[in-house]
Amino acid sequence: MTYTPANTRYNTMIYRNCGASGLKLPVISLGLWHNFGGDTPHDLKRAMCQTAFDAGITHFDLANNYGPPPGSAEEAFGEILRTDFADHRDELIISSKAGYKMWDGPYGEMGSRKYLISSCDASLKRMGLDYVDIFYSHRFDPNTPLEETMGALDHIVRSGRALYVGISSYNSVKTREAAAILRDLGTPCLIHQPSYNMFNRWVEEDGLKDTLNDLGIGSIAFTPLAQGMLTNKYLNGIPEGSRATQGKSLLDGFITPQAIEAIRGLNDIAENRGQTLAQMALAWALRDGGITTALIGASKPSQITDCVGVVGNMDFTAEELSAIETLARDEDINLWARSSGSDNGPER
Ligand SMILES: NC(=O)c1ccc[n+]([C@@H]2O[C@H](COP(=O)([O-])OP(=O)(O)OC[C@H]3O[C@@H](n4cnc5c(N)ncnc54)[C@H](OP(=O)(O)O)[C@@H]3O)[C@@H](O)[C@H]2O)c1
Repeated sequence: MTYTPANTRYNTMIYRNCGASGLKLPVISLGLWHNFGGDTPHDLKRAMCQTAFDAGITHFDLANNYGPPPGSAEEAFGEILRTDFADHRDELIISSKAGYKMWDGPYGEMGSRKYLISSCDASLKRMGLDYVDIFYSHRFDPNTPLEETMGALDHIVRSGRALYVGISSYNSVKTREAAAILRDLGTPCLIHQPSYNMFNRWVEEDGLKDTLNDLGIGSIAFTPLAQGMLTNKYLNGIPEGSRATQGKSLLDGFITPQAIEAIRGLNDIAENRGQTLAQMALAWALRDGGITTALIGASKPSQITDCVGVVGNMDFTAEELSAIETLARDEDINLWARSSGSDNGPER
């Protein structure tokens, strides 16, 4: 079926400048980590991308390894670009990343120049693109000089493979170092992609949020719904088909009685504000403009429609914020702590 984008698509979405740059991003962006691999029907992936674009979501976030199998989300998105968005490339901000394991051998992961540049080429090929808008170092690599990783990002821009660069899950200290190297090279760091939500507030504790504001670097918070925990989904148990049943990244131990109690309390606050818990969780992540955009995932189009409804109420009273503060406690769900150096334990 031919797709024609809604001509109302820019009517309600809010766009914010990404840090000190001239690039505007929608306050809600769509990520293709889960539900865009070979295990999801193509029509559903297409419907989610169409719903997003119709609602003013211009930013789609990918990575080399999104699937399963790794690479299949980029292939599917490439197909959707061809069938649905071919005439709209200049309305889209498409990102990809490299850092996690993509192929066997010593050059298939982490932060070397060899890996980043060849992975970027492979991503472009899978998506059928000449360039991505943003290319990221997906995680900090303690065994590669930062100059090498940032030099590779600079080269990726200078060679026309990407327009902007970003880093993901780097802590505040490493972000300052990376940003300084990139500035000296003449390719400023556009954006940082950290995990952030009411149950995972490491960016506040580490000082990263303040650092980004200081440096004029934009931010895109991933897992703003704590992989679905900060929605009405788990209020009364674990529903069939939900991410918690899939043995992927929403681990068994995450949905504790303490978390469910907090989710119920937060849901009450959201109801009093006249919005869904998902909308309130997104508004909270975006509060005060400290985060440029919230990077959601979805398993069906209606979730995206619900999430973009956040633009109807993004303000909080002091009373609401202090009520949320008593419930928004760390639930030990940060799977990416190792990259940012806040956890020396094994990768989960
Ligand atoms: N840089 C990195 O290292 C990194 C790491 C992880 C993710 N990311 C990026 O962040 C993106 C988002 O991650 P995420 O999918 O974990 O984010 P999330 O928005 O916290 O969780 C998405 C899940 O929440 C549920 N959901 C979404 N909207 C809902 C609604 N309105 N009502 C009820 N449930 C709703 C769905 O769960 P069900 O599937 O159960 O329906 C959906 O799959 C990824 O796609 C990726 O682009 C980046």
